[in-house]
Amino acid sequence: MPSKSDNNLSFNRSVIVTSALPYANGEIHLGHVASTYLPADIFTRYLKLSGRDVYHLCASDDFGTPIMIKAEAVGKNPEDYVKYWHDRDTEDFKSIGISFDLFSQTSSSTNAQFVQCVFKILQKNGYIYENDVIQFYCETDLKFLPDRYVMGKCPFCGAEDQYSDLCEKCGRIPDKIIDPKCAICGIKPVMRKSRHYFFNLSTFSKELENWLNESKSLQTDVKKYVLHWIREGLHDWDITRDIPWGIKIPTTNNETHATDNSDNSKMEYKVFYGWFDNHLCYISTLADLLGGLERAKSKWNDSEIYHFIGKDIVYHHYLFLPAIRMGMKNEYKLPDFIPTRGHLMLENQKISKSRNWYIGLKDFVKEFDRDYLRFYIASISSYSQDDVNFDWDSFAEKINNELINNIGNFINRTLSFCQKYFDKIPEPSDFDKEDQEIIDRLTKIGGVVGHLLENNEVDKALKEILTFSSFLNQYFQRKQPWKDPQGANTLLFISINAVRSLAIMLEPFIPFSAEKIWLQLGIDRGGDGSDVHIQKWESLGHMCIKPGESLGKVEPLFKKIEPTQIQSQKQKLEIAIKNAKV
Ligand code: MF3
Ligand code: ZN
Repeated sequence: MPSKSDNNLSFNRSVIVTSALPYANGEIHLGHVASTYLPADIFTRYLKLSGRDVYHLCASDDFGTPIMIKAEAVGKNPEDYVKYWHDRDTEDFKSIGISFDLFSQTSSSTNAQFVQCVFKILQKNGYIYENDVIQFYCETDLKFLPDRYVMGKCPFCGAEDQYSDLCEKCGRIPDKIIDPKCAICGIKPVMRKSRHYFFNLSTFSKELENWLNESKSLQTDVKKYVLHWIREGLHDWDITRDIPWGIKIPTTNNETHATDNSDNSKMEYKVFYGWFDNHLCYISTLADLLGGLERAKSKWNDSEIYHFIGKDIVYHHYLFLPAIRMGMKNEYKLPDFIPTRGHLMLENQKISKSRNWYIGLKDFVKEFDRDYLRFYIASISSYSQDDVNFDWDSFAEKINNELINNIGNFINRTLSFCQKYFDKIPEPSDFDKEDQEIIDRLTKIGGVVGHLLENNEVDKALKEILTFSSFLNQYFQRKQPWKDPQGANTLLFISINAVRSLAIMLEPFIPFSAEKIWLQLGIDRGGDGSDVHIQKWESLGHMCIKPGESLGKVEPLFKKIEPTQIQSQKQKLEIAIKNAKV
């Protein structure tokens, strides 16, 4: 039987979801999860449940000066250093059910080859030029000082102590940092000449502007300030770096290539700037997944493309990334959506690793059910670039009142009542008005929640599920089954089917608990919550559980959070911030 959506063209299109690549130099924290990984994961899981052909791609971002600096600081070579973090991230993502179809590395050989090939295409198309740059050079450390090796004052907004590759205050890329200091030794660097390649970003100003203006799917408020940046004037991007860690610049025939040119005898290699190669890894990861670049290309161009990011990398994703694809004559299509979310604050303060004001994933899942994290963050994750706040008290309150007292309560009272008074799912009698109302709601809820998820409105979708669940609780309550348990057959038949619907709808949000619900319903799908399920979204409005079937082992799904647990988390943060070095 063809379903209605089979006729829908966009339903048949594949979807490629990418999550911004985490730098391979530190632990994933709740901020990353909230702005990027969880919304992308919920979206992907929903699409998979609806039978869509969808790929969720990510990789560790292995190159760049910050990583070199950190590797140097701990006395490791950069390869080993990034491998450690790649493995660690893999583990952390898995621990909270963020599931990628592939989690690759920007330092993979596929990416290196692809990046070199893209560079040559851009060069051939006339968008790359060479120029001498007078660059910071530290005479104490005997090296060129790109990006994070230099700190100073932002020329745009005047913020102090900003890195020369990104002002954290205003989000722009300072082209001439004021009062520079070497980030290693603190001494004022000197200027030296070095030959670099530039990408002609400014040439694309008009084309970028048109694309932004025409796009109906990019967020309006983000577009507004990106268009403002274009009007201010875009600067070409220096895409080479004088450091040894990165993708090598290919030599073109017998021309001089950038590495030959040296006022700079200490320099061993030139490599691509990390922001030249990292976003290309979205595509090369797909190539690794599908077994080759040709397949990746046709899949890419035939899919809807979503790049999930946090608002700190808007410049790179709304300007630099599309301009590079334009420079390749759209050999790879531009993104359709760039879901951009704000920062997560922690107890109303900015998350900061250096100040120890953050919560690592590992610590979190040691103390609490991982689905509590997913549930809470989803409940505050609006589709906007407004910042959201992680608050320990509201965390406990939402988990205890919404997840446990509302959803958990309905599921558990239904299943345990059934198990106590009937050994099989009972045969229903005629439906009365109230039963019918529930059945009506049941047939509609999947469409409502699905529509919101499709549009990335994670928090609103979860709210709808909660409203539905409290309605189910009221229904159960009003029917007072305890007065005549044997006469509660219809209530239970309907309620058990509603539990099944909840299991499907909750899967994108709390996959581990959804798996437990399936087991309690007596349905073993043999998965860990990350596979494609047999229980599809489109079935959730139907009464698929039939009279005569048996339940599995029924037990409470969740455990309440105690005030003492919250107290000790708050204390832990306070102690950590006191012990911070800065
Ligand atoms: N590693 C970067 C960051 O954390 C994000 C890279 S996303 C990509 O800011 F587009 F470049 F890949
Ligand atoms: Zn600034």
